Amino acid sequence: MAIFIRRPPTCGYTADLMNLLVTGGAGFIGSAFARAVLADTLPGLEGARVTVLDKLTYAGNFANLGPVAHSKRLDFVPGDVCDTALVASVLPRHDHVVHFAAESHVDRSIRGAAEFATTNVLGTQVLLDAALRHGVEKFVQVSTDEVYGSIASGTWTEATPLAPTSPYAATKAGADLLALAFFRTHGLPVTVTRCANNYGPYQHPEKLIPRFVTNLLSGRNVPLYGEGTQIRDWVHVEDHCRATALALTAGRPGEVYHVGGGDELTNKELTGLLLDACGAGWDRVDHVPDRKGHDHRYALDDTRLREELGYRPAIDFSTGLAETVRWYRDNEDWWRPLLGD
Ligand SMILES: NC(=O)c1ccc[n+]([C@@H]2O[C@H](COP(=O)([O-])OP(=O)(O)OC[C@H]3O[C@@H](n4cnc5c(N)ncnc54)[C@H](O)[C@@H]3O)[C@@H](O)[C@H]2O)c1
Repeated sequence: MAIFIRRPPTCGYTADLMNLLVTGGAGFIGSAFARAVLADTLPGLEGARVTVLDKLTYAGNFANLGPVAHSKRLDFVPGDVCDTALVASVLPRHDHVVHFAAESHVDRSIRGAAEFATTNVLGTQVLLDAALRHGVEKFVQVSTDEVYGSIASGTWTEATPLAPTSPYAATKAGADLLALAFFRTHGLPVTVTRCANNYGPYQHPEKLIPRFVTNLLSGRNVPLYGEGTQIRDWVHVEDHCRATALALTAGRPGEVYHVGGGDELTNKELTGLLLDACGAGWDRVDHVPDRKGHDHRYALDDTRLREELGYRPAIDFSTGLAETVRWYRDNEDWWRPLLGD
């Protein structure tokens, strides 16, 4: 099956339309963004061309671009954002950069932080340097609520000091600060987005929702950390993409925008919903020792995004979750080969 088109990255360049460089565009969120741009569902980005730059780590998957693989507006460059020469050759003729590429799994960062420091911090610096050299119009640094650490009550605003706890979050915080420093020092038009936990189709089965769903669908138990009292706020990946597009087209340079979902749940409550959706009972839950340094709660105030850029999430959690579970049910060929990574 032909699942992507590879051409020299600048051959389809068009001066009159937006030319987007999407790093990490074969991953969960980056591919959703690329699919949405190429399906012309993101206001302000209609007709844009997309170059995906992705190293295809265990988390990157050509199949995630399958639905748009035929598009003449898509180029795919397999490669590392830390590769200065490659980035210098790919970036020219792109006027906008949306930087999703990252090592993204907290548990892996606890087992070993080296790849996280390299890709998340060094890779961001390589891209920022190239973006500055080539004078891009906008650079969106896609980040996470995890840079703030944990909050017992209330919400974080964009002015809250960063206090990351996991190595993953620390490297994302480092990348955010570097990106904002390029704005303050050099005037590079950088906008940072920080989003809550994402869910939706094409998410690697190492992450909580797909892990639980694929385990349940394949007759296995699910591992719940500790008592499952941690609280997370959930955002559908398509809403995150809408917010990213707003930040790209209308976000103020030098600013941070939060993307919240408004659907706080304990992991235990979420487990109950997933058990119900898969027709399973609590006997299918194994309580496993808690993650080291597990943050108790994340909660973002996203008033700025809503009031300044007019953002509204379009997908309510119960509908989105039901559709997501159905997607995993219907796409076993996609996730089955990824189990056991
Ligand atoms: N998943 C979430 O809930 C969430 C929430 C908020 C923010 N984010 C951020 O969004 C971004 C995307 O997250 P995701 O969940 O899609 O991650 P993911 O792990 O699914 O995808 C990451 C992608 O980056 C690629 N990649 C990794 N290292 C690379 C390198 N050195 N060079 C080029 N490509 C490389 C991988 O191959 C993969 O395709 C990340 O920056 C993450 O921090 C994620």
